[in-house]
Amino acid sequence: MCGIVGYIGQKKAHPILINGLSNLEYRGYDSAGISILENNDIKLIKTKGRVKTLFEKTENENLNGTIGIAHTRWATHGKPSDENSHPHLDNSKTFAVVHNGIIENYSELRNMLIEKGYKFLSQTDTEVIPNLIHFYYSKGNDFIHSVSLAIKDLKGSFALSILCKDEANKIIVTRKDSPLVIGKGKDEFFISSDTPAYLDKTKEFYFLDDLDMAVIQQDDIKFYNSNLKNIKKDIKLIDWSADSAQKNGYEDFMLKEIYEQPNSIKATISSTLSKDKVQIEGLELSKEYLKNINKIFIVACGTAMHAGLATKKIFESICKIQTEVDLASEFRYRDPLIDEKTLCLYISQSGETADTIAALKLAKEKNCKTIAISNVIGSSITREADFSIYTHAGPEIAVASTKAYTAQVTLLSILAIYFAETLEINNPDIKILKKDILDLPNKVDEVLQVNDDIKELSKKIYKEKDVFFIGRGIDYPASLEGSLKLKEISYIHSDAYASGELKHGPIALIEDGISVVSIITDEKLIEKSISNIQEVITRGAKTIIVTNQNLPANNFYKIVNIPSTNPYISPILSVIPLQLLAYYISKEKGLDVDKPRNLAKSVTVE
Ligand code: M6R
Repeated sequence: MCGIVGYIGQKKAHPILINGLSNLEYRGYDSAGISILENNDIKLIKTKGRVKTLFEKTENENLNGTIGIAHTRWATHGKPSDENSHPHLDNSKTFAVVHNGIIENYSELRNMLIEKGYKFLSQTDTEVIPNLIHFYYSKGNDFIHSVSLAIKDLKGSFALSILCKDEANKIIVTRKDSPLVIGKGKDEFFISSDTPAYLDKTKEFYFLDDLDMAVIQQDDIKFYNSNLKNIKKDIKLIDWSADSAQKNGYEDFMLKEIYEQPNSIKATISSTLSKDKVQIEGLELSKEYLKNINKIFIVACGTAMHAGLATKKIFESICKIQTEVDLASEFRYRDPLIDEKTLCLYISQSGETADTIAALKLAKEKNCKTIAISNVIGSSITREADFSIYTHAGPEIAVASTKAYTAQVTLLSILAIYFAETLEINNPDIKILKKDILDLPNKVDEVLQVNDDIKELSKKIYKEKDVFFIGRGIDYPASLEGSLKLKEISYIHSDAYASGELKHGPIALIEDGISVVSIITDEKLIEKSISNIQEVITRGAKTIIVTNQNLPANNFYKIVNIPSTNPYISPILSVIPLQLLAYYISKEKGLDVDKPRNLAKSVTVE
């Protein structure tokens, strides 16, 4: 949430910052702002609205400086407005700050500063930061010491990029529990919340750990820990192409990402699975250890949690290990029964989700092993976990997650096979599952052929007020994911239920003309599922069936046929028509598919 960028080098900072912000707009888009250091003065322009509005406001402003910072906001404290936009300056206009995160003790700090005579112009938590830095600066500390003292007073999360007009040849950055990366060019550096902002400029990035600081000059970078001791940082190579973070001819990132799924699944498979033994880079667990596990917890948020639900059955049926799936935001506060014999898996596309990171820290305190499953090399979660394994989905820019989900389900299925092979479990299903996973990219190609059909269907149902998704067994988590996709980008109210639960309450909502989407991929559950569908048809529902089964003729509104596959991995295929349905309904309604209201791609606040 919130995107921050910075540039220091020999080129004009303004276009580079605007370009970086546009690439980061998926992190927040209710206001934007920029500060450029020029002739020992900080120029500040900020506005409510999108990066495009900021560009229009700044393009004729003759911003020629080669050092600057900028921000795209997802409001937490203070509504979207010009005043609440970042950067924020201190009262003396010596410091400019952009911030991602939340300062939990801002009101205490604000009162302390007001008592010392500071004035506040915004309702944000951020504005205390430049003033606090100035407070220490006014006591004779230099730029870096003032920043270091100020961040010691902050409670909460922050990624900060800071300018000082008196030390106009540098930018200082620091972070705690919010992401920040530094790209290295030739005599120039690019600061950003995420690597995709500057993949067109560099593939070499530095990652900061909590409370590290970096002092960045045009041709030099120095790193410090929280005690201001010099530390060394290695560069990490990010092998995503610049193109992979562009739309490449598609109208929206979401559609591009839906269509990338054959390749993202293929890349995830080929990094781990062959006809022989599964090998997952970065993961080494012994038979002895796995034999003694008492339970697996899969912990995540949103779509990533749905990927956990979709694969719980594989861990239980194939590995014979009890597996529970939890929402990270709940897990942390419910005192889960975990000990050194519990294995905790944390799934996060971005690797920056605050609740998931906090849930991981909790497990570490209890001494159980943790595995992070992420799409982003170097992300916070991967630096916290004992082991990190990666989906190879490439950058996912659309707020609605699509290719990350299918890559997560693929990788988790392969992880279950890894456990089973390490445990030397002799089950013929494992060999069949491996073969079926290897076939997935072709099957995904095949499912994508439903595109035109779904587009037509969306024209008929886009005005609906409520849509229900139902499924049994493995089709229930897929229903949850379909329902989440629809509500987040079309703003249609939608809920998902296990089909058998309908008559325990939700069926009261079914009336004439309501759409019910039902997924049926498990042969053993056809009869029961059809009975549930009949119950809603009887009450006037229009039923849309996504299936890979030969269903008995019936009065369904629409059948969407998908290829059959191993039941364990069917959610990878059944979710794709639902992704397309959400996409086309959102398009029919004329909405911004990639940037749905109130949402941001990485949820870095709790
Ligand atoms: O980056 P993460 O995988 O940790 O993100 C988790 C959720 O915020 C995310 O999946 C969210 O639910 C998506 N917008 C759903 O499309």
